[in-house]
Amino acid sequence: MKFFLDTANLDELRRGAEWGIVDGVTTNPSLIAKEGRPIKEQVAKICEIIDGPVSAEVVAVDAKGMIAEGKELIKIHENIVVKVPLTRDGIEACSALSKEGIRVNVTLCFSPAQAILAAKAGAYFVSPFVGRLDDIGQTGMDLIRQIVAIYENYQFDTQVLAASLRGPMHVVESALAGAHIGTMPYKAMDALFNHPLTDKGLEQFLADHKKAFGA
Ligand code: G3P
Repeated sequence: MKFFLDTANLDELRRGAEWGIVDGVTTNPSLIAKEGRPIKEQVAKICEIIDGPVSAEVVAVDAKGMIAEGKELIKIHENIVVKVPLTRDGIEACSALSKEGIRVNVTLCFSPAQAILAAKAGAYFVSPFVGRLDDIGQTGMDLIRQIVAIYENYQFDTQVLAASLRGPMHVVESALAGAHIGTMPYKAMDALFNHPLTDKGLEQFLADHKKAFGA
């Protein structure tokens, strides 16, 4: 399973990069807006930190505009993946860009039917949102399981990028479901490390060592 950080914050990306476990980055207009720098500048800085796919989302809502914006975004760096919303225009843009060999991440996917459309349009990634389905009382993880099963039935090449993951169990369940990638905020990735028995065990090891050797 690949791990992506779902952030546009450079400090978080630098810390994640130091761990050596970050395979890519996803951003969206809300995350870019939080950093206060125009998308092209911010994404260029992100590409200097993380060596892997970096999703940059269009803000146009019509297919023609999305295609034009996508073609501008890929000029920033070879690792850019153009992110488009799962709308009729987004699918049209995905088909057109994919046919030209441009990698597209189709985002805001909330149903298996929508995921089939993304695969049919040649998407490189599809981003089903787990946490936001949980937020409205559905079991978001069911969507990941359904998409993985459907894509396997037809050997679709589109990779399932489990998104809107909010904590360790979302990550673990996405892995069990067979998602190719999990994208998560820095806080969720950091929480993966935690186990009280690790802390307790380490404390004991160090205390025993100190008792025997004085250091
Ligand atoms: O980047 C898209 C997605 O991961 C957003 O997550 O927590 O805002 O639902 P969230």
